[in-house]
Amino acid sequence: MRISDPAIQSALAALGVELRPGASLAELTSLGIGGSTDLLRITRHDGIPGLVQLLEQSGIPFRFLGGGSNLLVGDGELPWVVVQLAKPDPDIVLEGNFARVDAAADLGRTVTYCAKHDLGGMEGLIGVPGTVGGALRMNAGAYGMQIGSYVREVKLYRAADRRVEILKGEQISFEYRHTSFAPDDMMLAVTLELPSKPYKEILQGIRICNEKRRSSQPLGQKSAGCIFKNPPGASAGRMIDELGLKGLSVGDARVSDRHANFFVNAGQASARDMLALIADVRSRVQRAYGVALENEVVVWNA
Ligand code: EPU
Repeated sequence: MRISDPAIQSALAALGVELRPGASLAELTSLGIGGSTDLLRITRHDGIPGLVQLLEQSGIPFRFLGGGSNLLVGDGELPWVVVQLAKPDPDIVLEGNFARVDAAADLGRTVTYCAKHDLGGMEGLIGVPGTVGGALRMNAGAYGMQIGSYVREVKLYRAADRRVEILKGEQISFEYRHTSFAPDDMMLAVTLELPSKPYKEILQGIRICNEKRRSSQPLGQKSAGCIFKNPPGASAGRMIDELGLKGLSVGDARVSDRHANFFVNAGQASARDMLALIADVRSRVQRAYGVALENEVVVWNA
């Protein structure tokens, strides 16, 4: 979708929004899949309500994009524009055991920055791509930890109230890869309370997690991490592997040879290819195990 009306363009500029016309979502997502649309980048949190109001009044549908690392976007010209938070400087401020982090901050950098200041707890998330906002929304987790355990406060644009609000950690429910935020809420910043730990000790934990991840996941390839959630008490990756589906492909969309719950873009995969592969694997698992796998990857397909 293109914003061609000069009046809307100047209203965007007045709100401090940078308009990048015809951005390729394939370039903004770790899967390297997705069509094009206008990208609106905004730094100031207090400009968000005005931006949403402008888009709504102008009849322009929109979606909020984080780091694009857990996202499968449709092909071709997309029927909505994309709003993305741009990183302020600084994006992480520490105060005792509290880390105030902008939602646009890189997750990996946040983990290492806190570690260098003797704040631990988040070692498991090293190697998870994306932004802190995306990790927060999905309650990203690995190796027995989840980011939600450390959340004390969240600043967000609440779509239902059309304004920026602050929620206390206890007002939010964090479950396995799921939170109580509404789909159209936009994460803006988070305050984490992290346990004190000597840097050397944190670094050791980081090295162990890095090693485990390197040995079990296709890190150098284009992917969106795990495609399916693990069903209670089972592993989607193991089930897909047991069915001998590693290497199964539709076009350039392929089940990874290294981890069967990672589907990689081995070249020029389209969303159509990837969605067909997801549907095929889901129905084979359903037939063999009687389990309906749920997507872990977020799909924006029209
Ligand atoms: N397994 C196989 N074959 C495979 C993959 C896995 O047999 O191809 C087996 C493993 O040997 C292991 C079990 O399945 O016994 C579980 O595998 P793994 O330890 O790799 O963990 P997972 O359950 O597949 C989860 C998260 C990952 C996270 C890892 C590490 C989900 C859907 N996945 O994977 O998160 O990195 O644990 O904690 O919860 C993601 O969210 O995108 C993601 C990759």
